[in-house]
Amino acid sequence: MSELTELYDQVRVCTKCDLSKGRTHAVPGEGPENADIMFIGEAPGFYEDRDGRPFVGAAGKYLDELLALIQMKREQVYICNVIKCRPPQNRDPLPEEMDACRPYLDKQIELIQPKVIITISRFAMARWFSDKKISEIHGKPKKFGNLVVLPMYHPAAALHQPSLKRVLEEDFKRVPQILKEMASLQEEPEEKPAPPPQQLSMF
Ligand code: URA
Ligand code: SF4
Repeated sequence: MSELTELYDQVRVCTKCDLSKGRTHAVPGEGPENADIMFIGEAPGFYEDRDGRPFVGAAGKYLDELLALIQMKREQVYICNVIKCRPPQNRDPLPEEMDACRPYLDKQIELIQPKVIITISRFAMARWFSDKKISEIHGKPKKFGNLVVLPMYHPAAALHQPSLKRVLEEDFKRVPQILKEMASLQEEPEEKPAPPPQQLSMF
């Protein structure tokens, strides 16, 4: 059994937080182990909890359409969430639930080693950009060692707000180019304070 399959089995019976009590199915994630692109959403909703699969509701159908814009199918990418069990009424995950669930996503990233992680939820984005706003950094890839992280708006948010839909679609259309240029992306240097003005030597 592959390590990824073992992980799925652990997630399906996990009781490390109280979300296990209200779930129908845990939703570990799915996709090829050698996927170049990994999408990380927030948490399962009604349909995901019912089926045990990520992004199978309205947001998922829209994600399929977004992938089609760049001639890709969902079978080619890895799709998962920060939280593997549905929170009641789709409320935001609690910090203790995210802490309890975090090792599963850590392990998925370690096993799949994607080239690009596309975060499509603010909780996924916060892993790499804790102090940033999605309105400022969406569509801008950033390199972390060998990994590029690309924050995008959540497809469900775009479905509710037509102006975001355009933005998300434009961001998506740039993915093939980003994949091509990845090798040449430079790690952004830490922002340094401006150097002190140079001392002018009098004599
Ligand atoms: N929204 C998410 O963030 N994840 C899903 O799996 C479905 C909807
Ligand atoms: Fe376990 Fe994560 Fe489900 Fe909580 S949400 S029970 S930590 S799999």
